[in-house]
Amino acid sequence: MRTNDPSRRGLIRGAGALMATLPLTQVKLAFGGQRQDINIAYISDSHIQHIKGNEFVRNWDRGLIRAVAETNLLLPKPDFVVFGGDLAQLGTKPELDHGAEILSALNADVKYVMGEHDYYLDLGAYWSELFGPQHYSWNHKGVHFVVLNSILTHKEWTFDRWPTAEQRMLEMAGLDNPNGSPFMVGAKQRKWLERDLKKVTDDTPVVVFSHSPIQKIFKHWNFWTDDADEVQALLGRFHSANVIYGHVHQIQYNRIGNIHFHSVMATAWPWPYPQSYAQAESHLPVVTVPMNRADPFHERDATGWQLIDVHTGRPTLSYKLANNTNRTVGPDPATGMPHDFDFQERQISAQDHY
Ligand SMILES: [Fe+2]
Ligand SMILES: [Fe+2]
Repeated sequence: MRTNDPSRRGLIRGAGALMATLPLTQVKLAFGGQRQDINIAYISDSHIQHIKGNEFVRNWDRGLIRAVAETNLLLPKPDFVVFGGDLAQLGTKPELDHGAEILSALNADVKYVMGEHDYYLDLGAYWSELFGPQHYSWNHKGVHFVVLNSILTHKEWTFDRWPTAEQRMLEMAGLDNPNGSPFMVGAKQRKWLERDLKKVTDDTPVVVFSHSPIQKIFKHWNFWTDDADEVQALLGRFHSANVIYGHVHQIQYNRIGNIHFHSVMATAWPWPYPQSYAQAESHLPVVTVPMNRADPFHERDATGWQLIDVHTGRPTLSYKLANNTNRTVGPDPATGMPHDFDFQERQISAQDHY
């Protein structure tokens, strides 16, 4: 990583300054300007993939290495870093160890979220040895943060259906796979969440980190959490509730009731937008402006990382995209909806690569 490259350092410093100088009107509208900035760097979906011996898919490695190096250059330094899940491709020890080693270079507190690619080989056992609990919460600067494991599924599908753990993992690793099973948070974890949130007052901003969207967007690709409605009901009473998720490898944003939803990018590869797949019903949020993908043959096209500022209690996400136009999505004070600062009204039409 070119830590001494002045242009690179300037870019990162510029990004930090942008976050620190968000319009004060938003702060006043939300909380009278009493809240301190919270900056979170978010890295997700690295899909570290083992080939054999010490060999790993280089492109996925490079995506994560680059994200870690750039995160370490951030000014202001993030309050903490979230890794949003799918660290590994097939959940093996070599993959999780290799991913953990790359992430160990982060000079920040890191919060980990479970992805289905990390989970379905050994049901999260080795991941938990490395990174700790699969759901937890904490308070920071007046905001209540929660991590959920949203990629659980039915008992029958988890335990009984497959001849081997490897087979179960392979079925879950496929995007467009009718053998897949819907994700869910599950009754046990929802009970825990209900108890956890009892201690939190209605006017405390709540930010939930999950791997899958706690929304029903596109079941066919598991851009979907089956008990999303139940989880949303637990978040409904808060004046400011937010869900930030990975898994979809693309930018999405939405508001349902009082809950704002934002996705984060992958460091590995982009998925297409569900609306491009006409064979099944999809519910891409209407407020989402799909990202223009400049060059699908560029190795880092449509991947990137995010800086999140939640100083208003509503996150503003700054998407830094390799080989594409940077994006900022945050609350629109006029409508209360998530709003793409540059592209909501002037969407770039998709390029034709055929
Ligand atoms: Fe992923
Ligand atoms: Fe995923």
